[in-house]
Amino acid sequence: MEKSLVLIKPDAIQRGLSGEIIARLEKKGLKITAMKMLQMDKALAHRHYAIHKGKAFFNRLVDFITSGPIIAIVFEGKNAVAVIRLAMGETDPAKASAGTIRGSFGLDIEHNLIHGSDSVENAVKEIDIFFSAEEILDYPKDIDKWIG
Ligand code: RTP
Ligand code: MG
Repeated sequence: MEKSLVLIKPDAIQRGLSGEIIARLEKKGLKITAMKMLQMDKALAHRHYAIHKGKAFFNRLVDFITSGPIIAIVFEGKNAVAVIRLAMGETDPAKASAGTIRGSFGLDIEHNLIHGSDSVENAVKEIDIFFSAEEILDYPKDIDKWIG
């Protein structure tokens, strides 16, 4: 089943929005298969956001993502990557559709609450950065038959 990496970013933790954000994705029908709280260091931030190295906002992005604790989560479900991107809304919360996570709770592009993998290929790489194989649980839920 398709998996995606979600990060609840430091602004969401500081604002007490982590539960609400996780609940939205959980209620959608996605299954949590791994979750941990951690504070990213610069090396981890550089690895996770390597694609943005050299961009004008890169140093601010690294400073922000390492500024406080985050929650890293693996969500699993049918079309998990695309479904999570839709639930998140556009990168800039000011442009994100009302009702999306960023559209509901954010104002600023550099404080946009949540990360979600942007492709299945990147999801595999990102999950590998944050979790070992043993930390990802494969388990059935009785509700699966009503969702799949
Ligand atoms: P993310 O990787 O965090 O899920 O966000 P995303 O795919 O929607 O956006 P991406 O293009 O990958 O950018 C990564 C993060 O960099 C910050 N950013 N700032 N100031 C700017 O113009 C700018 N552009 C991007 C955002 O915080 C974005 O989430
Ligand atoms: Mg991205």
